[in-house]
Amino acid sequence: MGPPHCGVLGRKAGSIEGFVYSDTLREANFVWDDSHLHDFLTFPIMNFPGTKMGFAGMFDENDRSDVIAFLKAERAADSPMCQPGADPAPPPGTNTGELGGPVPTPTHIPRSDGTVKAPS
Ligand code: HEM
Repeated sequence: MGPPHCGVLGRKAGSIEGFVYSDTLREANFVWDDSHLHDFLTFPIMNFPGTKMGFAGMFDENDRSDVIAFLKAERAADSPMCQPGADPAPPPGTNTGELGGPVPTPTHIPRSDGTVKAPS
């Protein structure tokens, strides 16, 4: 689906060994920092023509700042997902979000009749 997104801040663009990047990112010659991430994330296919990233973009600057802060925190926290050689694949059966890690299973399940099933 994509290169490991975790640990991307401070990494050279297009540099994960073994991932087949678009020419755009493979030939990019910069390190991901706040300003490059803001540019990329605002509108990936417009600001980085040719990118293969299937993500529409985030027009709200605060949203982008939140995501970038999250990426920084992930790195700072030394998350196991960010360790060199870590298997980015979660254990089988785990729900994951795009950025990795378990996503909580919903406890209140909506029924089609409008009522909600509470946790048992
Ligand atoms: C807010 C969410 C996202 C952020 C912050 C983000 C960020 C990034 C960054 C910084 C890169 C460059 C990585 C590098 O140079 O190694 C990248 C590449 C990529 N991402 Fe994302 N991404 C997001 C969502 C997604 C989603 C939802 C998908 C897939 C459905 C995706 C698929 C990819 C792919 C395929 C590439 C490689 C692009 C290329 O070779 O041109 N990303 N992403």
